[in-house]
Amino acid sequence: MILQLTGISAGYGAVKALHDVSLEVDAGEVVTLIGANGAGKSTCLKVITGLLPASAGHVLWQGKELAAVPAHRRVAEGIAMSPEGRQVFPRMTVRENLEMGAYIRSDANIEEDMVKVFQLFPILKDRLQQLAGTLSGGEQQMLAIGRALMSKPRLLLLDEPSLGLAPLIVKQIFSIIRDIRGLGLAVLLVEQNARQALKVADRAYVFEVGRVVLSGPAAELSSNADVQKAYLGL
Ligand SMILES: Nc1ncnc2c1ncn2[C@@H]1O[C@H](COP(=O)(O)OP(=O)(O)OP(=O)(O)O)[C@@H](O)[C@H]1O
Ligand SMILES: [Mg+2]
Repeated sequence: MILQLTGISAGYGAVKALHDVSLEVDAGEVVTLIGANGAGKSTCLKVITGLLPASAGHVLWQGKELAAVPAHRRVAEGIAMSPEGRQVFPRMTVRENLEMGAYIRSDANIEEDMVKVFQLFPILKDRLQQLAGTLSGGEQQMLAIGRALMSKPRLLLLDEPSLGLAPLIVKQIFSIIRDIRGLGLAVLLVEQNARQALKVADRAYVFEVGRVVLSGPAAELSSNADVQKAYLGL
């Protein structure tokens, strides 16, 4: 197991957003967090990246307590995030955005890894000199994922990668998530699109108002009647 959250509580001032959340991610596994708006999914990712401190509980990364590791050091530890709403650097080119993803690295394989990103997202290669702010929504999403991959993470956190994209692009993004798992890194995927997320994931956690109310193999949850009713529109 590379990531383990135990008894995590967190919030924003008086707003308690997570209560006693425990979850795990194994090496090479795709795990999805599903739940309604405001359920605490993004907050959970913020605790993992260190953007938000937990008020209780532990985040263990490869067995090591992360509480004392500041957010900017966690990328070097192997945790990368593609945030909600993409947040690429709009006035930088595609190439510069990808290079920013690799800024913590000092090894010689950065160009090689950029080629790997182009294999996943051929469109980015055609757009290398284009300003990121002028890319389409789908292209910006691909760039945000590509930029996260450039830090050579062991765990990739994806917050709503399919949000606001056309159906064809959504399909493409999920197929790329499958390809990413083939690269051997673990993915923690937050999605509104529970149907697609459960298809691509090994395991899932269902969040309701800041708590994990259900968890298990994705295939099992897909056939759970409550999940079908609440999240799959069946
Ligand atoms: N910066 C903030 N300040 C105050 N409250 C916040 C902040 N960010 C989130 N919250 C609150 O914390 C709760 C959990 O929010 P969170 O963003 O984690 O939900 P989510 O599951 O990611 O929802 P969505 O699917 O809409 O992205 C919500 O009640 C939200 O209003
Ligand atoms: Mg969110």
